[in-house]
Amino acid sequence: MTRVFSGIKPSGAVQLGNYLGALQNWVSMQDESEAVYCVVDLHALTVPHDPDELRSSTLSLTQMLMAVGLDPDRCILFVQSHVQEHAECAWLMECTAAFGELRRMTQFKDKSTGNEFVSAGLFTYPALQAADILLYDTNQVPVGEDQRQHIELTRDIAIRFNSRFGDTFTVPEAIIPSSGARVMDLQHPEKKMSKSEDSPQGTILILDPPDAIEKKIKRAVTDSDDEVFFDIDTKPGVSNLLSILGAATGKTPQEASDGIERYGDLKNATAEAVVELLKPIQEKYHDLADDPGETNRLIAKGAEKAREIASATLSRARNNIGLFSHN
Ligand code: AMP
Ligand code: TRP
Repeated sequence: MTRVFSGIKPSGAVQLGNYLGALQNWVSMQDESEAVYCVVDLHALTVPHDPDELRSSTLSLTQMLMAVGLDPDRCILFVQSHVQEHAECAWLMECTAAFGELRRMTQFKDKSTGNEFVSAGLFTYPALQAADILLYDTNQVPVGEDQRQHIELTRDIAIRFNSRFGDTFTVPEAIIPSSGARVMDLQHPEKKMSKSEDSPQGTILILDPPDAIEKKIKRAVTDSDDEVFFDIDTKPGVSNLLSILGAATGKTPQEASDGIERYGDLKNATAEAVVELLKPIQEKYHDLADDPGETNRLIAKGAEKAREIASATLSRARNNIGLFSHN
């Protein structure tokens, strides 16, 4: 059976790009495959953070993942730092990845430029991500477009490790949706929508109330003509709305534009589709948030199941790389 693995950082509120680019696929893949999903709190340590906020976002993100439709009976859902194999395997990955490879990662360049403090962990971030993926003998990694380069690097690391030390890791592939893989900021359609970006009006949060969603979409930047068609280069704002509408209604952006003549109609249709899409998720989230005890129990069970797989892979890797074992 196909093994699926993916992760999401507990840094700030979940936004529409996370859902359309990744989480929607996570939900559908739990039935066709053996799916493992992880709240990557160790990755959240790579940038300055507040400890109390990290703790509470880890719990609330896990509840959000269940609200969008991850079912701990049909997938393994756990918190990265609860399975210590991740940190240990990351060291093996850091010693397999080349400095030059890590230096070429665009996420590192984006997140490090202009910052006073750049942690060493931000630089080795993709090695920890490779450990996450490879520990589970993963075949497929559902992610948004921005993660393609990290998955390519993970493949290169797996292939290199296998050829140096013998067959150890499965080589994974990225699964990227055809609509919604790159949701852009509504105010700055040249930048991806991001929860940590300082653009509240350009970012739709999953927990935004309907009137806030409508307001943000109606104020979205378009352009000065009034023609609705998909072309990212000449019409970035309109194309972004078409991508969102398409991803929210299970269509391609081109199909989504059928029958829509004017910007006002496009914005109304998009706002309505997003509000409808998020309504049941918001209801379920509020129910789950009322019962943190149950979430804690499920998280503990998830870690146990994850550890079973991860520890077997890590012992194989430790052995093949030449670490001495006394038994
Ligand atoms: P992160 O919040 O950075 O941990 O991302 C979690 C997942 O959401 C990853 O698979 C990302 O590729 C995806 N993602 C984040 N932002 C966007 C976006 N604006 N458009 C599409 N996918 C996104
Ligand atoms: N780097 C990913 C992001 O920023 C999160 C992540 C960490 C991840 N480990 C992973 C994604 C493993 C897929 C698989 O979105």
